[in-house]
Amino acid sequence: MSVEVVSPNKLPSDFLWGFATASFQTEGSTDADGRGKSIWDDFAKLPGKTLDGRDGDVATDSYKRWKEDLDLLVEYGVKSYRFSIAWSRIIPLGGRNDPINEAGIQFYSNLIDALLERGIVPFVTIYHWDLPQALYDRYKGWLSREIVDDYVHYAKICFERFGDRVKYWLTMNEPWCISVLGHGRGVFAPGRSSDRTRSPEGDSSTEPWMCVAPLFARSSAAYSQGFLACSRHGLILRYDVGFYDALALPSSVGHNVILSHAYAVKLYREHFKPTQGGTIGITLNGDWALPYDDSPESQYVSSCDIAAAQHALDVAIGWFADPIYLGYYPDYMKTMLGDRLPSFTPEDLAVVKGSSDFYGMNTYTTNLCKAGGDDEFQGKAEYTFTRPDGSQLGTQDPEGFRQLLNYLWKRYKHPIYVTENGFAVKDEDAMPVEQALADHDRVQYFKGNTEAILAARNEDGVDIRAYFAWSLLDNFEWADGYVTRFGLTYVDYETQKRYPKDSGKFVSKWFKEHVAEEHKTQKTEEPKRLELPAGADKAQTDSTTSSPTLESAESTSKAAATKRVANGDAAPTPKKKKTKKAPFARLTAYISTFLGI
Ligand code: FCB
Repeated sequence: MSVEVVSPNKLPSDFLWGFATASFQTEGSTDADGRGKSIWDDFAKLPGKTLDGRDGDVATDSYKRWKEDLDLLVEYGVKSYRFSIAWSRIIPLGGRNDPINEAGIQFYSNLIDALLERGIVPFVTIYHWDLPQALYDRYKGWLSREIVDDYVHYAKICFERFGDRVKYWLTMNEPWCISVLGHGRGVFAPGRSSDRTRSPEGDSSTEPWMCVAPLFARSSAAYSQGFLACSRHGLILRYDVGFYDALALPSSVGHNVILSHAYAVKLYREHFKPTQGGTIGITLNGDWALPYDDSPESQYVSSCDIAAAQHALDVAIGWFADPIYLGYYPDYMKTMLGDRLPSFTPEDLAVVKGSSDFYGMNTYTTNLCKAGGDDEFQGKAEYTFTRPDGSQLGTQDPEGFRQLLNYLWKRYKHPIYVTENGFAVKDEDAMPVEQALADHDRVQYFKGNTEAILAARNEDGVDIRAYFAWSLLDNFEWADGYVTRFGLTYVDYETQKRYPKDSGKFVSKWFKEHVAEEHKTQKTEEPKRLELPAGADKAQTDSTTSSPTLESAESTSKAAATKRVANGDAAPTPKKKKTKKAPFARLTAYISTFLGI
């Protein structure tokens, strides 16, 4: 498990870097060329579901302007582009017996060809949250095990039609968000929650984890009757749904997402990989967790906070990563949920365990974790950015990013592809465009995290193979509408004109300077060089944190220090902690829970 270090200051020539987007956030044209509705189409139009009341009908108009987006990618000189396929463009009604839409296939086929012509590697997400509405109407989407066969069928069409050219597949984007934000907090489509002010149906205490759904759903009416019969126990027979008597199995959104991913990977490995030779995996969200109080003086409190930080990681990451890479749900989740956590049948487990070729990592910040509270979705930990002494951790924490990379590498032992990482500048939407383009805080963020990648790979030995900044463009930020901008390119939504921000130029220049030269070049054209934003050279990583207290992270730091000493280098001088204003964080979607939308 060691990585080859070309030079301490370089990433290997095959390191993939670029920008990421997702279909519903950028494409618009929601009724073009036979596309079926997704669960986000109507949800976004409901009053109060997005911060600005706007929907995804136009987004960044990329269904029409995709060639312009490609010009931008060429200008930035990226090696790879991560985008997602809209299921309902490929199969408008979503199901395995529903018709396929050739126009939708053609759209992505053209996009893939055009990327390859420009020497850009397509990195494709099969599912980034835009479930066909018809599947939700038919059997409540992710709540039913029916979805596994429909998802696998959809994935099969993708492999068949694009797999000759696509060599990097992501089955799912962020199952935690699908489960919790869509079916627990109710802030994302389909918006299910126990909170009746938010949603007429849903049960936040069971649906993300486990409830009982009918095995055979014949109509949505029958389905919803059957579905009401939630139980925490195994196989049951339902007698009280009349004509629709249904055999029911324990099921849940999270569990069904895992199974769908795993069975699609099985299919790919058995039927496509031998000839197509690609790589396939899942991508999980998860931010680094630090104990709120780790001072030796307050031993009892700090031991609780250390446990809280681990519990936060167990639920945010371990819920999905532990079964997929290790073959079981985390112990803490079993304790916390008891019989609300499904178990895998031996047959399913054999498919789930080992079902990802790599670890897909989406991360945005670090949370300080305090023991307490009853939020199961956070492992009963409270999150804050304010330290016990009142100073701010802030939302930029490159050291935390590095520690997360180490934690994931040590725990799951798979190559890491960072498939999302980004930053929303406070109040950027209210700024005139010139001001928004000078996105100093975002430049700082990427400066810190890119250096952290280098250190994690070359000093700590973490096998990191890709990095995608979120996002190529400002775009439809789910429950935040268009108010929150994550783009490294500014989008003027009136004109749809795109303007590279300083951060976009910075990331582009950084990777060009830090990825070793390729010996064979396949590029057809030389990308234009972008200017480094004024002051970016001088930008300093301004956020440091104390050593991690979680066991693995601590040993990481020690290992890194030992390595440096062994190399004759001086151990790093700890930087003084700076107190700085917390810029408006990511996690806006989570925070919107508290904003009452
Ligand atoms: C991630 C999502 C992505 C985007 C970023 C900001 O959780 O995968 O679509 O919304 O957050």
